[in-house]
Amino acid sequence: MSNADTYVRRWVPGNIRDMAAYTVSPAAGLLKLDAMENPYPLPEAVRQGWLDAVATARINRYPDASCEQLKRALAQHIGLPDACGLVLGNGSDELIQILAMMLGGRNRVFMAPDPSFSMYRQICLATGTRFAGVPLDPDFSLDIDAMLREIDRLQPACIFLAYPNNPTGNAFETEAIRAILGQAAGLVVIDEAYHAFCGKSFIGEVPGYPNALLLRTLSKVGLAGLRLGMAVADPGWARQMEKLRLPYNINALTQVATTFILRHAGILNTQTSMIVEARAALYEELRSIQGIEVFPSETNFLLVRMGNDRGFNELKSRGILVKDLHGSAPGLDRCLRITVGTPEENGHLLAALRDIQCVS
Ligand SMILES: Cc1ncc(COP(=O)(O)O)c(C=O)c1O
Repeated sequence: MSNADTYVRRWVPGNIRDMAAYTVSPAAGLLKLDAMENPYPLPEAVRQGWLDAVATARINRYPDASCEQLKRALAQHIGLPDACGLVLGNGSDELIQILAMMLGGRNRVFMAPDPSFSMYRQICLATGTRFAGVPLDPDFSLDIDAMLREIDRLQPACIFLAYPNNPTGNAFETEAIRAILGQAAGLVVIDEAYHAFCGKSFIGEVPGYPNALLLRTLSKVGLAGLRLGMAVADPGWARQMEKLRLPYNINALTQVATTFILRHAGILNTQTSMIVEARAALYEELRSIQGIEVFPSETNFLLVRMGNDRGFNELKSRGILVKDLHGSAPGLDRCLRITVGTPEENGHLLAALRDIQCVS
């Protein structure tokens, strides 16, 4: 009980009172393989340059509200099509929230395959938008017939397709996504958070679909702490989103630090290649452990199904933090999502998993 309870019950809408806050597991003292971060810090060789750039930020002033310099660098970095607008968010989470403010609300439906990124549902609940999850096939591919049927029936204002998908790790069939883009009357968001580890992209197709919007983030490639997400879409969508974007949502330190690092983007690309290589090695090693099923991945994490539902606690007690997905969505019984770490970190993980298998 809190002193504010009477007020909360009277004024906070039921959909928010009924929600659970998104929880982030404390990771102090643990090997952190739960959040799809890049395990490599910025190399020493560019660290000083980065610090010098950050020192130029005038933190007594508000940041550049239009993020002009940063947007130019990002447009070049991602190969922004000429016909598209670019909207920046404090992580792509914030852009999803802006889309929900713009298109959601009572009597509106948002849709996504299930399981997918949990924030789609969370942000729907927060904005009073109905969320319709369409179960994936048992092999985690899109059930395209069910998707098209539900799109016709529910007329969603917005459909989220994580490409590749979190937490399953696979990239849906290109043709299935095109079929959804062709059929949907609402906005289709292609969320390419894991694009760097997959190589495939819909960015070149966005100008061809007036109802397509693409999301990218720098979180997975080494800049999670800076919080920077991007939306790419027809300028007509971008103009509406700009009305909902808070004027100074990208802080001054993020603007200068990211602009500097993008001049050294080769570093991020090298680290990404190292992670992709480590993913292949980890996948093979995991396959060799009896009692663990591992699913193919085009991301920087691997989804595994354990022999029992104790995997998360067993790993935690051995000093390793992963994401427990058991019971979180259909098809994820006994599943863990494990971020690919450095080869050394992956070695610790494998040793722990072999130990667990011996024990159980
Ligand atoms: C599919 C997907 N989209 C978006 C995000 C959010 O990324 P950001 O750090 O840019 O908010 C994540 C993070 O896990 C994700 O998995």
